[in-house]
Amino acid sequence: MSALPEEKPIAPENLLEVRDLARTFDVSRPWLNRVLEGAPRQTLKAVDGVSFSIARGETLALVGESGCGKSTIARLICGLYAPTRGEVIFDGHDMAKVRSRADMLAFRRRFQMIFQDPYASLNPRWRVGKIIAEPLRQHGLAQTEDEMRARVASLLEDVRLSAQDAEKFPHEFSGGQRQRISIARALSSKPEFLVCDEPTSALDVSVQAQILNLMKDLQREHGLTYLFISHNLAVVSHIANRVGVMYLGRLVEIAPTRTLFTRPLHPYTQMLASAIPDITMSGKARTPVAGEVPNPLDPPSGCAFHPRCPHANERCKAERPEPLPFDGAEVACHAVHERRIPLHAI
Ligand SMILES: Nc1ncnc2c1ncn2[C@@H]1O[C@H](COP(=O)(O)OP(=O)(O)OP(=O)(O)O)[C@@H](O)[C@H]1O
Ligand code: SF4
Ligand SMILES: [Mg+2]
Repeated sequence: MSALPEEKPIAPENLLEVRDLARTFDVSRPWLNRVLEGAPRQTLKAVDGVSFSIARGETLALVGESGCGKSTIARLICGLYAPTRGEVIFDGHDMAKVRSRADMLAFRRRFQMIFQDPYASLNPRWRVGKIIAEPLRQHGLAQTEDEMRARVASLLEDVRLSAQDAEKFPHEFSGGQRQRISIARALSSKPEFLVCDEPTSALDVSVQAQILNLMKDLQREHGLTYLFISHNLAVVSHIANRVGVMYLGRLVEIAPTRTLFTRPLHPYTQMLASAIPDITMSGKARTPVAGEVPNPLDPPSGCAFHPRCPHANERCKAERPEPLPFDGAEVACHAVHERRIPLHAI
């Protein structure tokens, strides 16, 4: 393998760090329309300056409403999109500086992605055995056909399916079983890091719980590190060590899971948390998340949450808050740092 890019200083316990990560998309009308209609070029800031780290063996969850940039972050980390700005540093290596295909393949083996819709991500014309074996072939991880079959059988058993399932096609399985197949496929290259983008959102609640439990068991058995993405704060409470809350392309709060649930600081986190009283058993009535997400093409000035925020003032409308440490969490809110928000335990 050719020389790896230079090492970046990174805290030794961190497997992944993203620093000031940003991605804009050009969503302009086609050139001819712009000329004829005088329409300006338009860019959308899907992710706008996000920084966080994930320690080895940890699960960091990212939550937020549809369109806040969760999947874009997943794709930036896995190299499916190039960042407009910022860095993705995996095990001390700046991913932007990985030049050769051989080096990129070596990193690709170490991180894998699991998607929301297991059916769309499994080739319907391939038998399950071939689907799971594909990364083994790609990374040269099995030398003989016998070795390949044995490895596929053991991966199927790891996800609590049976070795005979290798002969079947994806349509012969339920949604939950298909997600188990995706997980077996992701695990086949012996990765250290899994990016899971809404892996249980398409499943019934009881099946969701089974998959979450399986993912927790696999994390322990295989020493995995997870980035777990969900729009559902209740789901992440079962699996995450820390939770990052996103709003319109930015992280507004990041805190250990218990801290975030018992003492949500940011008004948006408070809004999300009070919509799920069954988690905290407080018995309070469910309050739906109020207001609409603003148009990302024309985000509000200052703090993007100000049109929905009960604590907004003139400073909020003018000045964008940066994430700053606050008592065990990091939070981007003027009112929290000015101590003018009641820190109600929910
Ligand atoms: N390829 C693209 N081209 C143009 N705009 C995009 C592209 N991908 C995402 N976006 C926009 O970027 C923003 C963030 O999208 P993203 O898919 O990351 O959100 P999300 O948090 O994953 O949402 P969801 O919960 O619906 O999956 C959205 O406004 C989306 O429309
Ligand atoms: S900065 Fe202001 S508008 Fe934004 S969340 Fe805090 S109080 Fe609300
Ligand atoms: Mg998404």
